Amino acid sequence: MQILILNIKKLVQVEEKPAKWKAGNEMAKLNTIDNAFLLIKDGKIENFGPMSDSPNLSKLPGDVLIYNAFDRMVFPSFCDSHTHIVYAGSREIEYIDKIKGLSYEEIAKRGGGILNSAKLLAQTSEDELYEQAMVRINEIIRKGTGAVEIKSGYGLTTESELKMLRVIRRIKETSPLTVKSTFLGAHSIPAEYKGRQEEYVDLVINEMIPMVAAEGLADYIDVFCDKGFFTVEDTERILMAGIKYGLRPKIHANELDYSGGIQVGVKYNALSVDHLEFTGDDEIKALLGSETMPTLLPGAAFFLGMIDPPVRKMIDAGLPIALASDYNPGSSPSGDMKFIMSLGCIKLRMLPEEVINATTINGAYALGISDTHGSICKGKVANVFITKPIPSYEFMPYAYTTDLVETVILNGKIINNNS
Ligand code: NIG
Ligand code: FE
Repeated sequence: MQILILNIKKLVQVEEKPAKWKAGNEMAKLNTIDNAFLLIKDGKIENFGPMSDSPNLSKLPGDVLIYNAFDRMVFPSFCDSHTHIVYAGSREIEYIDKIKGLSYEEIAKRGGGILNSAKLLAQTSEDELYEQAMVRINEIIRKGTGAVEIKSGYGLTTESELKMLRVIRRIKETSPLTVKSTFLGAHSIPAEYKGRQEEYVDLVINEMIPMVAAEGLADYIDVFCDKGFFTVEDTERILMAGIKYGLRPKIHANELDYSGGIQVGVKYNALSVDHLEFTGDDEIKALLGSETMPTLLPGAAFFLGMIDPPVRKMIDAGLPIALASDYNPGSSPSGDMKFIMSLGCIKLRMLPEEVINATTINGAYALGISDTHGSICKGKVANVFITKPIPSYEFMPYAYTTDLVETVILNGKIINNNS
């Protein structure tokens, strides 16, 4: 099956050769083609270019579905490199506590927050958890996401962590999204381990990691390395244990303080370090020259009313930046990557080109898939969306609540049409 999209107003984020990522000044550069065509074949991007080069229909063998885009643009699907989309229920009651003035840390200290979700998850069956997660999965597909990382971390017991990871595996098998799975047993210290944090870290290392690896349930390993959660020492022990089983780190760092999380992530060659509200000169220095993608989660900073990371300083220093949704019940109950682009522009003062790069090619790097996803490039997986008629690509982050994703194509197949 082939799909030939013709008369595309603008084909966005095209690449002749796949880039690893966009960093520094490059982040403000975006390759586009006006009045373009895109040919998709066998799930891959077969060809693209200006309409003047579009293939002669009579020379295309086999079935071809023709789509006339006219005023519409085509983007590569969003690559959302940080989510906690598998969870039970919701936490809007804590949301009220937050409105009344309690901080994220205060709620966590009272046994709320992540521990609240862990309690709910323990009472929810694997099937029910899958059904709940699939509602969110289908929601993000409609909104233009084509690849997603999903973390465990609401289990906090061996049994429940494995349950979460099996649900993620089922999503991998049944949804058209490209899914990467991250083991986050060290998301919070369970109440029964209060004052015995080291023993919980031992459990993660000696029991959980070997069992997760034995079933091949995770691609990556994460630790919430921050004030009130896991220390740099805990993080080092857990990362070393994970690396032994081939799990590359992707860690939560510097959301609540200068935690040392960025430095320890870089030391263990993390694929990404995420959050980074507390980033200073030392952290920027550590990241420069590393293979670690600094990933910002502006949905969480927005929802919790936290300080914003110093993005301009980071980009000016030459760093790449990825943006992700952090879709989770406590700090970012939304997986809307278009809104994340808007927050990048409005709150972080990133340019439209920068947020497009941050949510596509750089997100793909932070997922470990930039050679196959994140741009319109021959041979890459055909994960794209066709917009509604729009005047410019800048209109995408500008019209910050308007649903502008009209047709979603994943693995070369039309998934849905919102026209
Ligand atoms: O990325 N910071 C740690 N973990 C999540 C929040 C999880 C929760 O509150 O449920 C985050 O923001
Ligand atoms: Fe997170």
